[in-house]
Amino acid sequence: MSPPRPVPEGIARPPYVGRPGPSGPAGVQRHRGSDLERLRHAGAVAAEVLASAGAAVAPGVTTDELDGVAHDTYVRLGAYPSTLGYKGYPKSICTSVNEVVCHGIPDDRPLVAGDIVNVDVTAYVDGVHGDTSATFTVGEVDPPTAGLVELTRVATLLGIAAVGPGEHLSAIAEAIEPFAVDHGLEVVRDWGGHGIGAVFHAAPHVNHGIERGRTIRLEPGVTFTVEPMLTAGTSRHHLWADDWTVVTDDLLPSAQFEHTVIVTEDGVEILTLTPEGRSAVGDLTALEAGAR
Ligand code: MF3
Ligand code: CO
Ligand code: CO
Repeated sequence: MSPPRPVPEGIARPPYVGRPGPSGPAGVQRHRGSDLERLRHAGAVAAEVLASAGAAVAPGVTTDELDGVAHDTYVRLGAYPSTLGYKGYPKSICTSVNEVVCHGIPDDRPLVAGDIVNVDVTAYVDGVHGDTSATFTVGEVDPPTAGLVELTRVATLLGIAAVGPGEHLSAIAEAIEPFAVDHGLEVVRDWGGHGIGAVFHAAPHVNHGIERGRTIRLEPGVTFTVEPMLTAGTSRHHLWADDWTVVTDDLLPSAQFEHTVIVTEDGVEILTLTPEGRSAVGDLTALEAGAR
């Protein structure tokens, strides 16, 4: 690992930076009006950072170099990389390669053809966080692994499409898990989506696998992430000794995509799109066009 990258003094830090972690658990966050405008902006910045790092993915490029590209984009757009200094996390993005499920730390290993890498970006700007990730293929990838990546992308959009006012939060898992299982994939438990806004990780916890018990009913204005991790083999996982890197027990690949979304009066809006309306994750129009 290289040293943490510096952020100019003029860019505002989230409150947990320089502390052991965020203060206490946070409740459900709702946004409207100018609050929602700020969240849309943070989401757009995150989407742009993700596009910049994604464009740099190639054989021979290290995940630390991806961190550098992302870092420069956050700073150019006036944003703080939310993960940098979050509970001691040392880098500006997470890079999760092959069997890494999530929270991989960028390092000096060059990517090789056949790898897949999830790049997870969170931008803090104007007092709120936007969180988005995508899995990229490196050179030629074997067909089952390329399939895992594309199916995880579609599963993420199917989960988002299930969101709407009056729906249970569990509708997300009910859309994702049967789709994954139908394609011979498993859904990772324990790690999930989260409420987001001024607080990075807040209620509700978003399960992507179906769980027993009641979940909240969604109301307009509620903001959270949808970020399923799907695995080619077992979804059982363990942690590296660095206390961050989550890997599959069988070391078979895992893929993940993530958007930040808001429940609207009549459905859902994806907040992590570039100002031109683009994302490495895609959006719901592609689903309607028949990606199902
Ligand atoms: N962006 C990740 C998420 O989706 C953040 C992980 S926290 C970190 O929630 F410290 F590991 F970066
Ligand atoms: Co997230
Ligand atoms: Co994320």
